[in-house]
Amino acid sequence: MSVTILAIESSCDDTAAAVVRDGAVLSNVIANQSVHNRYGGVVPEVASRAHQANIVPVVDQALRDASVGTTDLHAIAFTQGPGLLGSLLVGTSFAKGLALSLNIPIIGVNHMQAHVLAHFAEPPYPPFPYLCLTVSGGHTQIVLVHSFRDMTMLGETLDDAAGEAFDKIGKMMGLGYPAGPVIDRRAQFGKPVFTFPEAAVGGLDFSFSGLKTAVRYFLRDQTDKNPGFLESQLDNLCASIQYNIVGTLLKKLQKAAKQTGVQHVAIAGGVSANSALRTGLTDLGERLGWQTFIPAFEFCTDNAAMIGIAGYHQFTHGETSPMDTVPFAR
Ligand code: KG4
Ligand code: ZN
Repeated sequence: MSVTILAIESSCDDTAAAVVRDGAVLSNVIANQSVHNRYGGVVPEVASRAHQANIVPVVDQALRDASVGTTDLHAIAFTQGPGLLGSLLVGTSFAKGLALSLNIPIIGVNHMQAHVLAHFAEPPYPPFPYLCLTVSGGHTQIVLVHSFRDMTMLGETLDDAAGEAFDKIGKMMGLGYPAGPVIDRRAQFGKPVFTFPEAAVGGLDFSFSGLKTAVRYFLRDQTDKNPGFLESQLDNLCASIQYNIVGTLLKKLQKAAKQTGVQHVAIAGGVSANSALRTGLTDLGERLGWQTFIPAFEFCTDNAAMIGIAGYHQFTHGETSPMDTVPFAR
């Protein structure tokens, strides 16, 4: 029997819906919330309200793009967590209400596991086992993926996520929100001439808060000496910060590959859009004989297709959720 799943993602500031049939993505719709840009970060209550406004039109569009009616659906997958609770509640409640009206089950999906499975949105698919570095505004982790439903976390950030580091440091430099893409763009015109300390965290864990503090004091000291420092050196500063963050990510990934002996290496999450990370991974892969996987941008950032893929594999293993399921923030 063919299985058609509607998937909903509302963990942070994007409202997304997708239709997935037998694990293949039929549609993938996202409504971004630019309303947060003026606040310099995601405001949870504003995000919840925007999800309320967006969810019906986004789901409607996903069904229409897939040429699927609600009566064709076998289950509704939704992001159960981690994420902002008020945002998760919108997607969860919507999924429950629609599922109840259609008399079909709901499937609660872990957002982080789903990011790792975004690689199955379109070929080439990574063979199991593979390593996945998931880097976004909310997460930084290296996962060893054994199968669709079995994965081991090898390392994670102890403080800020990689995207958060880009965004917070960018904010200090007046680059707006989100600053990651701006730093990436400006870095292309600069050189990594400033050296910032690399976090001395053992194993496969990460820490980015030290870099943030180091940049803050560096900017303060340099600006004291030369008030025009930031403006005149912005491109070089962006290149130096990016060099530091990407260098750390690739170093840990290399360590994970060595430790596990796994040579299929993938990246996911919003920061995998970073040009230095993409070329760095490709170069490293060529040098070390890895097969590397970088999903298309629409599947790198938060999206519902990945929720549908994860949901499909849970569903086919009989893993649906009871109607009294509640979201989890962490
Ligand atoms: O996955 P995502 O869309 O949302 C979550 O945080 O879950 O990731 C957004 C993050 C932001 O921190 C943004 O600054 C970062 O990804 N980002 C980038 C780039 N594009 C997005 N960071 C560095 N370079 C980029 N090109
Ligand atoms: Zn995410």
